[in-house]
Order: sequence, then C-alpha cells, then structure tokens
Amino acid sequence: MSSAQLSHLLRGVLLLLPAAAVIVAGASSKLWEVPTGHFTSSSNQTENVPLERCQNQWTEDGVKVTADIPPKLDGTWVSTRCEVRPGPEFLTRSYTFHSNRHFQALQHYYTESSCEDPAYSLMIRGKIRLLQASWITRGASEAEHHLSRVGIVVHSMAAKQRLASRLPPACVSLSLNEAVPGKLYELYNTRAGRACLAAMGFSVMEMGLVRVETQHHSHGGKVQELFLGDIHTDWAQRTQHRPSGYQQPLQNAMHHIHPCPVCALVYRSSEQRPPVLPRGPAVPLSLTGHWVSLRCETRPNVLFLTRDFTFNPSQHAWEGIYRHYLDSACSQPTFTLRAWGHYAQGNPSSKLSGASEFVFKVTQVRVTAMDESTAKLLNSTRPGKCGRAGDWSVGVEQDLTATNGCPMLGIKLPHKEYELFKMELDHRKRPLLFTGERPTDGSSPDRPLRRPTSFQAPMVLCNGGETHPSFSTFNSRQLQLASGTAGLEKLVLLVFGSALCSWLVVY
Ligand SMILES: *[C@@H]1O[C@H](CO)[C@@H](O)[C@H](O)[C@H]1NC(C)=O
Ligand SMILES: *[C@@H]1O[C@H](CO)[C@@H](O)[C@H](O)[C@H]1NC(C)=O
Repeated sequence: MSSAQLSHLLRGVLLLLPAAAVIVAGASSKLWEVPTGHFTSSSNQTENVPLERCQNQWTEDGVKVTADIPPKLDGTWVSTRCEVRPGPEFLTRSYTFHSNRHFQALQHYYTESSCEDPAYSLMIRGKIRLLQASWITRGASEAEHHLSRVGIVVHSMAAKQRLASRLPPACVSLSLNEAVPGKLYELYNTRAGRACLAAMGFSVMEMGLVRVETQHHSHGGKVQELFLGDIHTDWAQRTQHRPSGYQQPLQNAMHHIHPCPVCALVYRSSEQRPPVLPRGPAVPLSLTGHWVSLRCETRPNVLFLTRDFTFNPSQHAWEGIYRHYLDSACSQPTFTLRAWGHYAQGNPSSKLSGASEFVFKVTQVRVTAMDESTAKLLNSTRPGKCGRAGDWSVGVEQDLTATNGCPMLGIKLPHKEYELFKMELDHRKRPLLFTGERPTDGSSPDRPLRRPTSFQAPMVLCNGGETHPSFSTFNSRQLQLASGTAGLEKLVLLVFGSALCSWLVVY
C-alpha cells in the first residue's frame, strides 16, 4: 500500500475519532450507528514480532507477519487447544467462511477443562459482511453478521438435563425432555428462537471484529491466524457486547503451526461427532524465571501492550513490566510501567481443574513516559497525585510510591488482586503460563468474587534472557506511517487519556 493511500485512511480515522471517543466513554451501542465509509482501499500492514529479547528461542529468523485490511476470511479456522471462556465455559471451535459471505460455525461445548467430555454442539449458519477498518481497535476490521439458523446436538443424558434446567420450555422444535442425544434439533431460525439463544448466553458478537494475521516463514511456509472479538467477562453483558479486543486466535486448517493434533481433531469433527481431545500431561505450576508475551497483545478499550514477568518463588516476590503502545503492532510506545510486590499461591481452582488460585500484592510502581504526549499528560497532574508533577519527561522513570499511585493511570498503592494461573505445554513441549483474563469493564479483580474464570494470551519462558530488556529494539515496524500519525497519536491520547483513569493498570 502506498503512503498516499495510508494517509487517506488515517485522515478518515482522524475525523471519526472524536465521535468515537464520546461514544466509547458512554459505552453506548450507538457506536454502530455512526455512518462510516466502506473500505476505501486495502492495505497490507507488515509487522515484526516485537519480542526480540526472546526471539532466538521463540521465533525463527526471518518470520514476517502481515495483516491484510480487509482480511481474507475464506477457509476453515480451528481451535488449537481446549478454549476457556469466562464462566468458565470450555469449548472447541471450527469456523468455515465461504467466498459468498456465508459462514458455518461449529462450537463444541464440554463439561470440563480438558475438553474430553462433550456436552453439546452448536451448528451456527449465517452471513458475514465486512464493513470497514476499525477506528477503535486499529489493525482490525469491523463486520456485521446475520444468523440464519442455529442447531443443537446434545451428547449425553447428563448434558441434556443440565441444559433443560437453563433453557425456557418453548425452545424451537426442541422439547429437551424428548431430545435424543446425537440428533440435531433447531434452536433458532429467522422466525423464532431468540429467547432460546439468550437463555444460553449465546451470541456470535465475536464476529463483529476480525483480523487475520499471516506469518511468512523464511523456508516458504506460512501460518494464518483468525482473531475474532472478545467475549465479555460478565455473563449478563456478553450477548450485547461490542468487542474491541480479541479472543485467542483460531488457526487456518491448511496453514497452522505443526504439529497440532488438536487442529486435526477439530477440523474433522461434525456436530454429531464432537472432537474428544487427548488429555495433555498435567503441568505443575513452576513460576521460577522470566516470562514474556509472545506477541503484541490487544485488550478491550484501545490497549496494546506486552507483558514481562519475573517470579522468585523462594521470596514470594514478583516483578511485572507492562509496555503500552498506541498501535496494534506495538511499535509506538506510550508508557512503560514496572510493578513489584509479593504473591501467595492458594488452592487449586474448584472451577477449573489444573488451574490454581493466587493473590497478588502490588507495593511499588514506577512509570516511564515513552512519548511526548504521555509525558505532557502526566506532567499536568496535580502535585502529590502522580509522582513529581512537572518532572515528567520522555524516557525518565518516576516512582509512584510516594504518591500512593497515580489516579490518571488508574494505579492505587498498595493494591491486591485475586488471580488464576495455569500452565500448559506448547507444540514443542515448552511451558506456557496463562494468567487470569482482566474484567472487560476495566475494573480490578480486587475481591475473591471477581477472580477471573478465563485466561489471557499465554506468556512464554525466556530462558537465560536478560531481565531488563531495553526498549530500543522495539521500533521494528516496517510500515512507514504517513505524516498524519503524529496528530492522531496526540488526539488518541488526549481523548483516551481520561478514560485510562478508570482502569487499573496493574494486570
Ligand atoms: C500482502 O503481502 C503478502 C506477502 O508479502 C502477499 O502474499 C499478499 O498478497 C499481500 N496482500 C495484498 C492485499 O497486497
Ligand atoms: C513538565 O512541566 C515542567 C514545569 O512546568 C516543564 O518545565 C517541562 O517542560 C514539562 N515537561 C513536558 C514533557 O511537558
């Protein structure tokens, strides 16, 4: 894509932003009533994996990541592991998109966290239409969908009884008491069944936000991942939720990471034959060491960041570094936050077998403004509220302990959080650390009742890596942004800076 096209795109974004911000702040569904143009052009962003500090261990040399806007959805996309949604809910997915916009989404639900015991499967048919590049979640495209049919197959008598207790008696063509396991029943069609879907907490609002990333490997192979919108952590909100972050990606059935036994099982499944995943080895939690994000992470409400954790179990001590960026490639840093404290491991989770409960205490936080706009913003705080007012400048770290945090960044010290951790092995038997998903509304899991029931993207162990990587290696985005970006950056910060206030930036 030429820089002229890009600057055109950015100008469009710039014009829309103030409206977007107002609407986001009000959390109104009006978001979607704002008239926006269709894709004026297609773009091809090239992004480098930002985590060079672990690159030797975790990514091959010469891997290039591209993300087309609009994305090409055609094909079948499958889960790579047993997925956990807030609740918790356990599922595997196999979504097929056809070039005529029709899609067929297969969701298999399970009773437990290893996806060995299928409860029921949903066969969802509908149409999807890509609308425009998202100006809320940069790097994503917005889409609208239309459901034509949802069918259900129940896989056991026990699952049938559990469902019957949740569903209203008048679900379309389905009197659950008479339902036979293994047979397809219609739950929804364009004439009836809305109440039925609502009672199940079902929606495919995830289709509202899409992004396809392609990793081009130097040996010629490629891996494609489909990111769909996030699921709200509050059950009551999930069917209305307009996503602005992502779930864990599905991988293209033809272009996935090898080996992926789960991919093959999910790909070959049908609503009558749900995949039964093999039980992986139990991986005991062993936090010792230095853990980092595998990629630039996108959170709901315009947050792009990478995480970097160090645990010292013998001292019950932890340190976290959160690098925040303006863009989905994590190439334009805004601020970096370092937090320290202690943690205590609690009981194994009763809701999620294999996961453990934790309590984290944050006692010290230091922040570095990484760009001029953020430095100015922090500089404008009242004395005694956020470090030394008037002393903020780019690249200089400030301790927030004396001011008990910084309300502008949503940091209050000391602070306690209730957490959920688990470990799994990846396709090459390397450990992955999953930490609890943050509440979608930006609140803090500061009470046991708010403890997460699902997970964020996993972090990987960085063996022998440096513990304090420098920031300078991060500016690796190959795409030259047009001159409009500097203004955009400022605007975004001004507009969203205030929104940050309500967020606890300790993850
Ligand atoms: C984007 O780049 C990739 C690899 O360089 C290429 O295969 C793909 O066709 C490009 N897409 C567009 C829309 O130019
Ligand atoms: C912060 O405020 C001080 C005092 O008002 C000023 O001298 C300094 O230039 C400001 N720094 C930034 C980055 O705006």
